[in-house]
Amino acid sequence: MDKANVNDFRRWKREGQPFATLTAYDAPSARMCAAAEIPLILVGDSVSNVVLGYDDTRPVTMDEMIHHTKAVRRGAPQTFVVGDLPFMSYQVSPEEAVVNAGRFVKECRVDAVKLEGGSAVVPAIERIVAAGIPVMGHLGLLPQTAAMQQGGMRVQGTDAEAAITLVAEAKALVAAGIFAVVLECIPQELAKIITAEIPVPTIGIGAGPDCDGQILVLHDMLGIESGYQPRFVRRYAEIEDAMVAAMRSYARDVQERGFPNEKESFHMPDEELSRFGEKRGIRETGGTRDGGTNSE
Ligand code: KIV
Repeated sequence: MDKANVNDFRRWKREGQPFATLTAYDAPSARMCAAAEIPLILVGDSVSNVVLGYDDTRPVTMDEMIHHTKAVRRGAPQTFVVGDLPFMSYQVSPEEAVVNAGRFVKECRVDAVKLEGGSAVVPAIERIVAAGIPVMGHLGLLPQTAAMQQGGMRVQGTDAEAAITLVAEAKALVAAGIFAVVLECIPQELAKIITAEIPVPTIGIGAGPDCDGQILVLHDMLGIESGYQPRFVRRYAEIEDAMVAAMRSYARDVQERGFPNEKESFHMPDEELSRFGEKRGIRETGGTRDGGTNSE
């Protein structure tokens, strides 16, 4: 598959062709996304809680995001990669926002950056876009500030006034120059209207089936997550169960001396084994041989 670009996402919107996107945080998962022909990978700040073990997305730093995004780029050199600007990397000033967006491009070769918020982040978006870096917006539930400003992780835009505000904010982000916007946890009726009324693709997570694209957190959809699961997550596999079962089998094999076996071990050549024994003044005996050599 050819690498997608911002024009492809717009074309898919115009053609009514929905597209699936995913988060990834390291090289192997990025490589698997590429193998599955996922056209866009978001290195989400959800790495903070999903991978780094923090309670929410706020603690992850710009340096940590760079570290993970570099790994994703190495794993998927031919995929459109979006770097997620972490909490407090773009709120202080548009200048700081563009410096951090620029770090993602220069150090990780991302294709775009994402940031959360409505009209408050318009100056930052304008500054980053003016520097030539594509920006993805993020409206609805805003995980970086949800606990402080949105009453926790809950559906947004459920009353008429809030819905009107969200439509206006989506249009303000478009005017500022975004190429796409994530709509998180909003009623599907509202997502449908925003999708119809803006020219850039909407990418939904908990926003119903009418968005131009969808995104899921990789570990949620693969079932590598035993904690709370939002209702919008569909689990396509139970990888955590499979991994724990594999670890148990390995531990049992080791305890029963079933691992490693003959094929998984190496031997000294007979001659060296006897010389070794002579040097130690005892007769060394080898194990069962299958003709394997040390270099295999
Ligand atoms: O960080 C993240 O994983 C995200 C997605 C929920 C869109 O922002």
